[in-house]
Amino acid sequence: MKGKLLELLRQHKGKTLSGQDLSGQFGVSRTAVWKAIEALRAEGYIIRSSPRLGYELVEEPDALGPTGVSSIAASSDYLDVGFFFHQIDSTNSEAKRFAEEHPRQCALFVAEEQTAGRGRLGRHWMSERGTGLYLSLLIRPDIEPSRASRVTQIAAVAAAEAVEAVTGLETLIKWPNDLVIQGKKVCGILAELSAEMTAVNYLVVGIGINVNQFIFPDDIKEKAASLHILTGRRIDRQMLLAELVSRFGRYLSALTQNEALEKMHQVYRLKSATLGKEVRLVGKQNRTARVIDITKEGELLVVYPDGERDLIHFGEVSVRGLDFYA
Ligand code: BTN
Repeated sequence: MKGKLLELLRQHKGKTLSGQDLSGQFGVSRTAVWKAIEALRAEGYIIRSSPRLGYELVEEPDALGPTGVSSIAASSDYLDVGFFFHQIDSTNSEAKRFAEEHPRQCALFVAEEQTAGRGRLGRHWMSERGTGLYLSLLIRPDIEPSRASRVTQIAAVAAAEAVEAVTGLETLIKWPNDLVIQGKKVCGILAELSAEMTAVNYLVVGIGINVNQFIFPDDIKEKAASLHILTGRRIDRQMLLAELVSRFGRYLSALTQNEALEKMHQVYRLKSATLGKEVRLVGKQNRTARVIDITKEGELLVVYPDGERDLIHFGEVSVRGLDFYA
């Protein structure tokens, strides 16, 4: 009930809900409502109570917590459950363990800290306690494995839009799915697929966003930034999480509709920091090429200076003007 109560208070933010109405709605006593309100306050929610009038949600805690995460999962129509961890090795690893044991469920996993956060290409993902947003979405779309890369595009577009909505800053997607603001990486996505020849068992989409960090390790400090550094203000991670989960759901429901998918692809291309740019292809002996398209399957279509064309499926690219200046 605590999660549902929070959902309701959130839906009516700025308004006061009467204790009597709430007790009627949940079929519990007014004392039970009051106890749930007290439990939310103990988690850091600021709830104003006015005698006779009722309760109003004034502010949410920045600390992520179990109630916030489960209520965000509950307000979506594609997640069965949401889990919160104070500390975990990696939310992607936990999502995969859970997926193997619960063959039907879709879920959200969020951690305050990861001890073994994983990035693309076998890299480590710095996951300092309490500052970033580290989450994984376990979903089971009814699609062929060849379409799975579209889910990663969806995640990139949803994350970019969520970051824009919360910060007001233009957010671009550097191929394949890093988010960059003013040339600095603020978010990375690691999607992991379990599939048969013709069907997807499950997909885990792991998203790491640099939200309120101030310190980055030497090897990335030139290239990375946090939303706090870029906006000059502390960003509410829970609000960002709620935006992201809801936008991802909206695009996900369009996964099997060609027209909606086409629109998402257009948004992805419009937000691309790579399309039309000169790039250096790390997996191709650092050859340079110009990106002339990004396909629906998420490949880069490039043309080399000699006119030869190539399709790049995965790997690493440096974009001139973004992270390659030579
Ligand atoms: C990248 O290399 O850019 C991808 C980084 C993905 C990091 C996120 S944080 C949440 C989830 N759990 C992990 O271990 N990795 C992803």
